[in-house]
Amino acid sequence: MPVPEPALVVAGALVENGRLLLARRASPPELAGLWELPGGKVDPGETPEDALVRELREELGIEVTVGEPVGVDVALSATLTLRAYAVTRFAGTATALEHEALRWVDAADLRGVDLVPADAAWLPDLAALL
Ligand code: CDP
Repeated sequence: MPVPEPALVVAGALVENGRLLLARRASPPELAGLWELPGGKVDPGETPEDALVRELREELGIEVTVGEPVGVDVALSATLTLRAYAVTRFAGTATALEHEALRWVDAADLRGVDLVPADAAWLPDLAALL
């Protein structure tokens, strides 16, 4: 039987003035209070880049330009894969429209932040952006 490709979740790494934007999840209970790169699921028929533009518009109220992937893809489950992309430009002021809070972290802050487990795999890659 053919094995379907896992669906993709995309997340964005926004850096400004040596600081990375992190967002605090409000749900589900096991992830609430932990920090992540904002993003979400790619819809059927949508490119990963288009999905990230849409998700960051919905979640942060900004318009972004998507660059190259950051770090490796992370398996969230047998059916879901997570990928980060660098955001090379953005317009507008990031606002927590769907998260509990936003925070811009420098390299020192990043080491002390409680990230969602999947995003922690990218720590060295994210630190290299700062
Ligand atoms: O809002 P939507 O359902 O499209 O996506 P989401 O709930 O934000 O993310 C889908 C899945 O990816 C969840 O299991 C999240 O925990 C996970 N995720 C993650 O591990 N790290 C991120 N930076 C973004 C999402």
